[in-house]
Amino acid sequence: MKTLANLLNLRLEPVPIDREGLIPEAFEAACRKSNPRALYCIPTLHNPTNATLPDGRRRRIAAIARSYGVAVVEDDIHGLLPAETPRPIGHYVPELSYYIASLSKTVAGGLRVAFLIAPEHAVEPIAQAVGATVWLASPITTEIAATWISDGTADRTLAGKRREATARQRIARALLGRFGLRSHPASYHAWIELPPPWRTNAFVETARRCGVVIAPADLFAVGHDAAPNAVRISLSAAPNRDLLTHALTAIASLLARSPAPGRAVV
Ligand SMILES: Cc1ncc(COP(=O)(O)O)c(C=O)c1O
Repeated sequence: MKTLANLLNLRLEPVPIDREGLIPEAFEAACRKSNPRALYCIPTLHNPTNATLPDGRRRRIAAIARSYGVAVVEDDIHGLLPAETPRPIGHYVPELSYYIASLSKTVAGGLRVAFLIAPEHAVEPIAQAVGATVWLASPITTEIAATWISDGTADRTLAGKRREATARQRIARALLGRFGLRSHPASYHAWIELPPPWRTNAFVETARRCGVVIAPADLFAVGHDAAPNAVRISLSAAPNRDLLTHALTAIASLLARSPAPGRAVV
């Protein structure tokens, strides 16, 4: 979204979140202050914090969007991973909702076919935008997606991905649980606020020197305020569970010790 906003010259403003995700009062304050055109959000398994918005908050966010006339772009990229999820925000405000889901996280990374539910009046302009940019969805991948959905392959693959995610989350919890890991049994990633005196950049760099690549919080942050002192750890990138265990063990031992003291700068 940050890259896209840059490309399209859109101004992004952050809205504060807590452990349950987007804070409705903060969204309303942003509506009052900035008169935004749209809200972009990931209500289920938020990337990077794993927060999932409860139903009550989804209803309140929908009501605020309606009263300020703000479109809701709802990225449900991980929506099929948990066995159960609350209804999308768009369910409560369909006239302003752009609900997007794709198969790349739930079926196959290379199967880049997405689905969009948009308000009736927006369908024609969206079709024109698709025509003007990519012309049409790739017919071969769309055919594969349609076949896999109708013959059950997509459901079986999703079930396998859920099982693997749960197994990997168990490993993460066993090794990193004591450091306040924020995770979900069906998520592909974990979020950790770093214990002091670790600072995000030093931690990411030290992990990289140990051969483990993790993402600093500021990669996901927008606005001028400091990003939280935290990192996102992807559990899906390691080709197998043994390698994941090895990498997370390295992370755990870094978390358990302080950064090496550097030379003082005065
Ligand atoms: C939150 C989020 N939304 C959307 C996407 C893009 O999905 P696709 O590869 O299907 O375009 C990603 C991919 O990493 C993502 O993390």
